[in-house]
Amino acid sequence: MSDNTLSSRLYPTRIDIPAEARVQIVVILNKTLAASLDLKTQVKQAHWNVKGTDFYQLHELFDEIAGELEEYVDMVAERVTALGGYAVGTARAAASNSILPEYPFDILDGKDHVTALADRFAPFAKHIREAIAKTDELGDADTADLYTEISRTIDKRLWFLEAHLQVAEIKGENGSAGATKSQKAVASVK
Ligand SMILES: [Fe+2]
Repeated sequence: MSDNTLSSRLYPTRIDIPAEARVQIVVILNKTLAASLDLKTQVKQAHWNVKGTDFYQLHELFDEIAGELEEYVDMVAERVTALGGYAVGTARAAASNSILPEYPFDILDGKDHVTALADRFAPFAKHIREAIAKTDELGDADTADLYTEISRTIDKRLWFLEAHLQVAEIKGENGSAGATKSQKAVASVK
């Protein structure tokens, strides 16, 4: 059975949200499950391999972030099952269904790991915010609320990551790995 078929499979349940809505919500949640699992393993990859003078604080920060993502993986998967759906959460399914790019294996320095993670937290944050609106429109305030909780944490973590980069980005020291021209323009008018 394909991941797409599995993602939309429903079991009989007495819950009052209509099946047509639940199928769509479960597909969105399974997409989030894949991306969250992928992101968690990427943060662990950074936790294990980061080097440099900021090693210890980044090693600790990355572990804290991975722990939060692990909790959300479980909450998202269990929301799928509460809706009568089938949670698709193996490593292979996560790898093939994730919206995120693979983590770069050729980086060492703390700044490069922070940049790689910020580049992944930003699209993940966008996906989560879009899911708040979609699940709300589908009449599932509880799933929208779960997404809102995740969204607040992910935005906060994007801030934590970007706070390591913003001084250099404002001064234009990060080259191509740093802020885009428009971000620099915003920074320069502040
Ligand atoms: Fe560890």
